[in-house]
Amino acid sequence: MIIVIGSINLDLIANVDRLPAPGETVRGSGFTTAPGGKGANQALAAARAGAKVRMVGAVGKDNFANEALTLLRDGKIDLSGVGETFASTGTALIMVADDGENVIAVVPGANDSVVTGDLSKAFMKKGDVVLLQQEIPLQTVEAALDVARAAGTVTVLNTAPFRGEAAAFLGKADYVVANETEFDLYGEALSLSGRDRPARMRDYAGKTGRTIVVTLGGDGVLAATPADLLMVPALKITPVDTVGAGDTFCGYFAAGLSSGLPLDQALARAAAAGSLACLKPGAQPAIPLAKEVDAALQIPPAR
Ligand code: RIB
Repeated sequence: MIIVIGSINLDLIANVDRLPAPGETVRGSGFTTAPGGKGANQALAAARAGAKVRMVGAVGKDNFANEALTLLRDGKIDLSGVGETFASTGTALIMVADDGENVIAVVPGANDSVVTGDLSKAFMKKGDVVLLQQEIPLQTVEAALDVARAAGTVTVLNTAPFRGEAAAFLGKADYVVANETEFDLYGEALSLSGRDRPARMRDYAGKTGRTIVVTLGGDGVLAATPADLLMVPALKITPVDTVGAGDTFCGYFAAGLSSGLPLDQALARAAAAGSLACLKPGAQPAIPLAKEVDAALQIPPAR
């Protein structure tokens, strides 16, 4: 079982030719809404990868909540740990440019109501994989890492969005997944040493005894364990929309660990899934199915 404790949003998405500069207004060419939120996106990715998934989070008592949960329900995710609060459902205002680049402003709303008391709804047990991000209160994220360790689960912490205070507890996670910018910022906060990023990743793994995974966009993924440094390529694609690609990576990565894949294979599968997620618009609508990832990796279907 994969247990995701995290955010649920409704994404309000405008398509633009190019992203505006500060103070500039640009004309949009399209508008859509789609279910999103880093926690929810990762939960759906893990489910599409074939894992059983439980989600702990919160939505508002409003019209956005139903749409925000639609694909999680379709994906048969256990939503018994998702509460309703008086705050509004989390929203993300997203602009996506023709070249696939995006900017996002997140209004947490109900996601800020996910508190340590909600961790009892996670029902963690030995062998589970607990998957966390940083769009809910960090106090809850840190407490979840402690509860998860006591329960004997494997923990994966995605450091998105960057929040400096998290540097104090990153080392509690068995696997940290960061993008390049996040890792470089945490590297400064933690005074990691080394002349380049791989060296600093090794320093992190050596000091914490844990694994650090850094996603490099189209250049693939690097991972440092206390013993090893691994490099996995991304698929060669032309991105349409990169929103949710990192979440797809995290969900597939957690699913790979949960199913017992060795680290290099879990990373390769997650990297391929993350690449495929860039080929369609929207976060959750773009998450590929397991069979699409297998086809991209040329894995024959199971008989
Ligand atoms: O990672 C992409 C997600 O970030 C979007 O779905 C949006 O909701 C924001 O949380």
